[in-house]
Amino acid sequence: MSQRFIALLPAAGAGSRMGSELPKQYLPLLGKPLLAHTLSALAAAPQLDRLVLVLSPEDGWFESIVPHLGELQGKLTVLRCGGASRAESVRNGLAALASELACDDWVLVHDAARPCIAASDIGRLIDALRDEPVGGILALPVADTLKRADGGGQIAATVSRTGLWRAQTPQMFRYGLLRDALDQAADDTITDEASAIEASGHAPRLVLGNERNIKVTYPDDLALAALYLQAR
Ligand code: C5P
Repeated sequence: MSQRFIALLPAAGAGSRMGSELPKQYLPLLGKPLLAHTLSALAAAPQLDRLVLVLSPEDGWFESIVPHLGELQGKLTVLRCGGASRAESVRNGLAALASELACDDWVLVHDAARPCIAASDIGRLIDALRDEPVGGILALPVADTLKRADGGGQIAATVSRTGLWRAQTPQMFRYGLLRDALDQAADDTITDEASAIEASGHAPRLVLGNERNIKVTYPDDLALAALYLQAR
């Protein structure tokens, strides 16, 4: 049987570091909400059969992006089962798909707040992992020198960057494995799917990502995302 590849987008966060009333996934970016860019970017990857969006049950903004979605709505499933943490939103989304997905199907979890993901990055991730038993993530080797702070604004130590990578998304795992790992994980220690998989005793693979696949977190990131999208 051919393998299925599903994108799951947790989009139930409030984006408090952005300092805006509007959750960051709905902030305007080049004339449409940020989330509409992210969905279009994923829809451009031909390998993805389906896009599943996990919203907060209280989300009052999704309808505003519908006019920007066009044909991709045919691939889109919207779930209103987001939770108090990213891990809970992903866990709830995976549980809602239980009757439709097989254990071996691939789930690519992607931050709603990464609108600059390129179809070529998704293709590289899938090509690298499709025959793997577990899965892996897009990531980048750390380029800067790293300092550990002492809590008082001074440097306590320089940390070796050898072997350190920055995790990005998509993070691509087998459905059954990811569900089990997240069901057993404690939310306060889990900031991405790979850490739940690691905690369950597996070693996800690292696949070279792209500097442009930024997560919009602080106000300045929006301008950078606009530059990257315009440069396409
Ligand atoms: O806050 P952060 O940037 O780490 O969020 C990463 C992704 O997880 C975002 O797409 C955000 O909407 C999502 N998230 C979620 N449910 C939460 C918190 C974050 O779906 N409770």
